[in-house]
Amino acid sequence: MKSEIRLGFIGFGEVAQSISAGLMEVGFGDLFAYHYRGLHVSTKLQEQAKELGVRLVGTQNELTKECNIIFNVTRTSVARDTAFGIMPFLTKEHLYVDLNSTSPLVKREIAEVFDKQGLVFIDGVLMAPLPLTKHRVPIIASGAGADRLAEILKPLEMNIEVIEGSPGTASSIKMIRSMFMKGLATLLIETFVAAKQSGDGYEKIMGSIRQTMDTTPFDTLMERFLTGTAKHSGRRIGEMESALSYVSESGMVPVMTKATNDLLQMISTAKDAQDSFLLPSNQDELYSFYKNVFTEEENR
Ligand SMILES: NC(=O)c1ccc[n+]([C@@H]2O[C@H](COP(=O)([O-])OP(=O)(O)OC[C@H]3O[C@@H](n4cnc5c(N)ncnc54)[C@H](OP(=O)(O)O)[C@@H]3O)[C@@H](O)[C@H]2O)c1
Repeated sequence: MKSEIRLGFIGFGEVAQSISAGLMEVGFGDLFAYHYRGLHVSTKLQEQAKELGVRLVGTQNELTKECNIIFNVTRTSVARDTAFGIMPFLTKEHLYVDLNSTSPLVKREIAEVFDKQGLVFIDGVLMAPLPLTKHRVPIIASGAGADRLAEILKPLEMNIEVIEGSPGTASSIKMIRSMFMKGLATLLIETFVAAKQSGDGYEKIMGSIRQTMDTTPFDTLMERFLTGTAKHSGRRIGEMESALSYVSESGMVPVMTKATNDLLQMISTAKDAQDSFLLPSNQDELYSFYKNVFTEEENR
């Protein structure tokens, strides 16, 4: 007999396979996947599906017939096309969830079209790497139908937090988190290359960064960065200009270093524009000061 939950994936990559592996571990097996190559996928993918107890289906129509919950886990660039591709086969009983890191604007756009057809579109975002978390990956979801989704998938130990708001709301949280996580990763990459190029300096540089990161709690670091940068932006410009010329001279294109220098310049200009700059003393004041940095006409 079929269970009440019949879960289907559009796309069968890392996310679909990790969620399937986790669900298999908790004994859930009603899983389906549609790949854009239909059933003409590689033998390797067919074997992976078999091992994970996932039935590959050849058409989108078949996926909608087999499943009541559909996760789009393809990629952001095709999120719109895959949604509109499967739309004619959906009914109002289906819960269609875009789990891609698609922009809030695109998710809103798709949701509006679904809504006009009386179909359910749920904006879901994956908040951790899948191979580690599998089906227990923290998911934030928004849009009508998100509550129902969380309720239905709770017995499978899926970790869905519903937030108020229309589709696009969950995605905006993911985008802002990505700004930080991806920014940190790319800054680390630029630092890593420069440190490696410095030869013997590598261990000293990384050791010093490690010491700071390992011994400073995040809230302390955040407070120090937010307040310290407002206070010392002038002095830090000098330091970053030196860093910028050093990195350039070493033959690298200093992407992140240049961005740091640019932002420090903007912060310093905003300070100079105030008659008498008072160091922000709490988070509200810091927000108000920095918000102006990003919205001042001359900085746009
Ligand atoms: N992996 C993570 O830990 C993670 C974390 C957070 C968010 N995400 C997001 O989750 C989504 C899926 O990520 P992933 O890591 O699973 O990516 P992936 O490993 O590249 O898998 C994507 C799957 O979608 C297929 N696909 C591509 N275009 C398609 C189309 N037009 N129609 C149907 N299927 C199509 C791919 O086919 P091929 O066989 O041709 O590649 C592949 O099977 C992405 O939007 C990603 O940003 C992933």
